[in-house]
Amino acid sequence: MTDKSSNQMWGGRFAAGPDAIMEAINASIGFDKRLAAQDIAGSRAHAAMLAAAGIVSDKDAEAMREGLLTVLSEIEEGRFAFSTALEDIHMNVEARLKEIIGDPAGRLHTGRSRNDQVATDFKLWVRDQLDAVDGALVTLMRACLAQAEAGADWVMPGFTHLQTAQPVTWGHHMMAYVEMFGRDLGRVRDARKRMNECPLGAAALAGTSFPIDRQMTAEALGFDRPAANSLDAVSDRDFALEFLGAASICAMHLSRFAEELVIWSSAQFRFVSLSDRFSTGSSIMPQKKNPDAAELIRAKIGRIFGANVALMTVMKGLPLAYSKDMQEDKEQVFDAADNLMLALAAMDGMVRDMTANKDNLRAAAASGFSTATDLADWLVRVLGLPFREAHHVTGSLVALAEGKGCDLPDLSLADMQSVHGEITEAVYDVLGVENSVASRTSYGGTAPVRVREQVQRWKEILG
Ligand code: ARG
Repeated sequence: MTDKSSNQMWGGRFAAGPDAIMEAINASIGFDKRLAAQDIAGSRAHAAMLAAAGIVSDKDAEAMREGLLTVLSEIEEGRFAFSTALEDIHMNVEARLKEIIGDPAGRLHTGRSRNDQVATDFKLWVRDQLDAVDGALVTLMRACLAQAEAGADWVMPGFTHLQTAQPVTWGHHMMAYVEMFGRDLGRVRDARKRMNECPLGAAALAGTSFPIDRQMTAEALGFDRPAANSLDAVSDRDFALEFLGAASICAMHLSRFAEELVIWSSAQFRFVSLSDRFSTGSSIMPQKKNPDAAELIRAKIGRIFGANVALMTVMKGLPLAYSKDMQEDKEQVFDAADNLMLALAAMDGMVRDMTANKDNLRAAAASGFSTATDLADWLVRVLGLPFREAHHVTGSLVALAEGKGCDLPDLSLADMQSVHGEITEAVYDVLGVENSVASRTSYGGTAPVRVREQVQRWKEILG
């Protein structure tokens, strides 16, 4: 005899119900309720297929499909009583279906298992997230493009080692992020393409002896095809890991951008003003306007990296096929997805609202001997010096200017000639930052003409 407290879905061989601690460690309903819509879509597709294949009657399938919609609306309207004893979303939904439609509900689980069911539900969820991230990335890229277009020829310092290196344009700097987010978009789209195979019908691990039509369920759920190996279909979570991998790289890009915004908005730099809408004040220092959104983007990235490492670790030692360890996949992905979407939206808001301080950018670009390379190039081009010698002469001129407390264009011609006698007045043309950026016309360079071409190219790509 089965104990009354044993599980109503699988308790046939059990004489007693689970210990409270067993129930606590085993249940996933606390988090996998987020898969409700996907679970119900999967079950509705499965029910329709069972009828089409003659495995259940049309009448039963119709009752299941209708009943499942009722369950969905109960969940969506917050009227559904989730039960921990029923472990997860799959059994909660099925048990409720039984209450609503009675016996036909018991036929729904023909030719499938929770193993292919959960893999299908989770794939559908991850696929939706990939699409959401895709949209958010495009939105953010448009915000960067607008900044780039407005400031295609605004001059700012370009850094290496966070030391002034050479002048670049604001537009060029913004477009660097468009390239990064563009690759993130590519990764998201690649992942979606690769993952779009349907596990449903793989059953527990070996397939089923029922004459199911996997093509039909795959199509109904928007998959490109059914997964070709039932063991693989129920036991890999590489699709979730690809999502986390792509999310991690994107998050890394967001974090670098966030770091730049923190630096740029500081009183020492004043390259940008962030809008009030994306800043906070201090409760004690009235002058403060803090870039909290940027800081939180920078920090949240840790959770996304963490999720990636956590799920890799869950998966790495599992023998085929399904193991309960894999239930630990969901919370990591949910948290990473939520935080990535939040970070993308916050970055989009900040970029849209921020004002670049053109004059400060220009002034900073002109300091720190930023056109020293232009000077060295001039010595090569006009005086025919070998680059090594030109580098040395320029270094001496920088030292001279530094000693005088001025910048390179402030040195007199006599000062210049004291270091190299053949230098002429014409050198001053290349010492200006506008000329410097305008001269960098090589493909991918910072010249405003090149930047505008890239803005145009990306506008066409994004449509
Ligand atoms: N809640 C489970 C999970 O998320 C569903 C699959 C359970 N399968 C099983 N054989 N116990 O992985």
